[in-house]
This record gives sequence, C-alpha cells and structure tokens, in this order.
Amino acid sequence: MGAQTSPLDQYPRILSPLKIRALDFKNRLFFPSFGIDMANPDGSFSDDLRGFYEGMAESGCGFLLLGNSSVSPQSILQLQGLRMHDAHHARAISPFIEYARQLGVIAGVQLQHYGAQATTQHITSGELLSPSGLGSSVFKKMDPRYAVREMSRDDIAQVKGQFAHAASLAHAAGARLIQLQASNGYLLSSFMSRHSNRRCDEYGGTLFNRARFLIETVQGVRDAIGDNAVLSVRLGADDGIGEAGTLPTDFEHVIPALEQCGVDMLEISLGTAETAFNVGRTEEMIEKMMSVVRVIREFSSVPIGFAGLVDSLKSAEEILSSGVADFVGMGRALFADNDLIHKTLAGRDAAIFRCRWDGQCSKDKFNPKYSRVYCCVNPKYIRPT
Ligand SMILES: Cc1cc2nc3c(=O)[nH]c(=O)nc-3n(C[C@H](O)[C@H](O)[C@H](O)COP(=O)(O)O)c2cc1C
Ligand code: SF4
Repeated sequence: MGAQTSPLDQYPRILSPLKIRALDFKNRLFFPSFGIDMANPDGSFSDDLRGFYEGMAESGCGFLLLGNSSVSPQSILQLQGLRMHDAHHARAISPFIEYARQLGVIAGVQLQHYGAQATTQHITSGELLSPSGLGSSVFKKMDPRYAVREMSRDDIAQVKGQFAHAASLAHAAGARLIQLQASNGYLLSSFMSRHSNRRCDEYGGTLFNRARFLIETVQGVRDAIGDNAVLSVRLGADDGIGEAGTLPTDFEHVIPALEQCGVDMLEISLGTAETAFNVGRTEEMIEKMMSVVRVIREFSSVPIGFAGLVDSLKSAEEILSSGVADFVGMGRALFADNDLIHKTLAGRDAAIFRCRWDGQCSKDKFNPKYSRVYCCVNPKYIRPT
C-alpha cells in the first residue's frame, strides 16, 4: 500500500496561514458576508444568528464576516438585518467573536450603508441617500413609498462619522477585522460609479472625486480602530454596465490611495442589485470573475481575495495556485453544507450537500413569505414549503 496523502499535500496553499498586522489567519478560506436576516428586530445579534455563525466558525474556514451590519438607523433593508450603530449592537456580538477566537477563527464585521438599495419601510426619515438622487429600479418595485435624495455635504460628513462610529463599536466588541461594504451598488460603491454619481462638487466628476467618499471613510475608520486591527474593503470592481458605470481599470490609482490610508486586504465583487452577477454558475461567469480579480491584482500590493461560485477545496486550491488571489471565499457552498471543508479533508466528498446555484437563497431576502434566508439542500436551513 502506498503512503496516504495528507490534506497539507493536497491543499498546501489554502491550508497555509497568513499574517496581516497583528492577526494570524489560520488558512486562506473564508465565509463571506451573507445577510441571512435572523437578527432581532432592533438589529442586534440574536441567539438564532449566533447558532448560524457558530456553524460557520466550526466549518474549518480561517475567517468569516458578520454580514451587512448597518451603520445607520436610517439605512435598513430587512428589519431582521444586523446593525452596528448602538452600544447594545456591539455588546451582543462580543461573546460570539470571543467564541470564534478560541476556535482560531477570525470573526470580522462587515459595515454597510445600503444607500438607494434599501426600502423606506423601516426608517423615519422617509428618504434614502444616494450620491445624486438616482434610485434603483429593483427597490422601487418593492416599496410603494420609495424615495431617494441627493446627499448634501452634511450627509456625507454624517455617514463618514457613522462608519467610524460603527467601526469603533465593533472594535470595542473585540472585532479585529473590519470590512467596509463598497460593492454591489450600495452607498460607498455608488459614489464610484459614473452611472449613479453625477455630482458636480468635489465628490463627483473625476475618478479621484468619485473615490473621495470611500477614501475619506477609510481614513475615518482607520483612525477609529487604531493600528492593530485589519481593515478590509469589499470593492465593487465592475458594476456590469461598462464605461457608463465602474470598470476595474478605474482602480489603478485608487487602490494605492486606499492602501496608503490603511486598507490591508481587498475582497473583490461584481455587479449591483440591477445587474445581479454570480447567480448561475457558468464557465463564462467564473472567467469574468477571475478576469476582474486579475486586473485589480495588478494594481494592489495587499492580499486580495473574492467569493464567487467556488464550489470545492479543489477549485479554491487551483485559484490560489494560479496566483490570482491570496484567499478564497465560499458563500453558498458553505451555506449549503457547513461541513464541506471537514468532509472534503476526511475524504467524504460523497456526503457533501452540494449547492445547486439556483439563486433561491438570494430570492428569499425579497420574498414576503419568508422573514429569513433558507437553503434548498442543507437540512439545517431547509426552506419550508
Ligand atoms: C443570501 C445571500 C446573502 C448575501 N448577503 C451579503 C451581505 O450581507 N453582504 C455582502 O457583501 N454580500 C452578500 N452576499 C454576497 C456573498 O457575500 C457572495 O459575494 C456571493 O454569494 C458570491 O459568493 P458564492 O458564490 O461563494 O456564494 C450575499 C449572498 C447571498 C446568496
Ligand atoms: S438556496 Fe440554492 S443557491 Fe442558495 S445555497 Fe442553497 S442550494 Fe445553493
């Protein structure tokens, strides 16, 4: 009988550690932000949400992100979405962050302002914020009172302050990884896009003006969290509308500026609510994702990763071997089976519940029948009929 191959022989790259600032990532796999909508109605971390994230912390990944933590009470997509604008929101995540730390897993917090991609149903101001007052057709259809206004300079200063405040709350709760959601058409990325940003002041027009809001937000957040914590930006590198929107090449000089302001890692993402990338798993979509990440890699000197249609450790290992990324996320694959990593390493591939890439979990978010996100294949989260 030949010698057995160890997991380290099979997956040397994904199982290798990575150190960024004071944080030791035990491997290169992560569970990306996945707003499953199981928080308490006041946006605080619930027992159900803790149960969900414990499954992810125990999955074998090196880090995970608590998804879509809204920085403002005036920016809410679902009532049961997570929030991070009050001290009690921070207190509620603290025990889980410590639990994950004891497992050797880094639990980060993704900070979110939904901008025009939200609804007015749960806010008191009546209007959503956007760079130039342009709305999203997807959200307009869902919300009869949908209204958006152009942000004033005071609004911009207030939102930057909200991101910094939320970051300091998350940091005080023990989070040593903070991610800013600057992709998928939400507020920070909508400033980058030529389509949604038509401003004529210092926050619109040229590339640097469009990047100003993000750069200044990064500066405020870095000041709030100090030197030891790791700051990640989830960067919307291509919003799917070509030269009229955001293109990967727009970031050639923006990324070095972000790095100079203290960004330590980048997670690349594509699409907006309107252009909805990444739903079906096709070769064309996989290649599109990889080609965008390749362009951004050329501009960056910090570790870079993405989540998008990765279905197995084998695919993740191939991606890292190709040199295109330093870490790889698995969202739906780990949602479909929290134990995918352990089962693969134990040679139990046949026992894995495989994601069908049917997009049903994304649809649950907007289905009034459901108050949370379910799965078609994972018995733990099976969708009720
Ligand atoms: C149900 C669901 C919820 C999601 N919630 C978030 C979120 O809170 N924040 C975010 O940045 N991305 C979110 N995403 C996008 C994922 O982070 C990820 O980019 C996407 O699912 C592609 O990765 P995958 O193919 O590995 O699932 C969500 C995706 C799904 C399917
Ligand atoms: S609902 Fe469907 S697409 Fe979403 S994780 Fe489950 S099997 Fe995959």
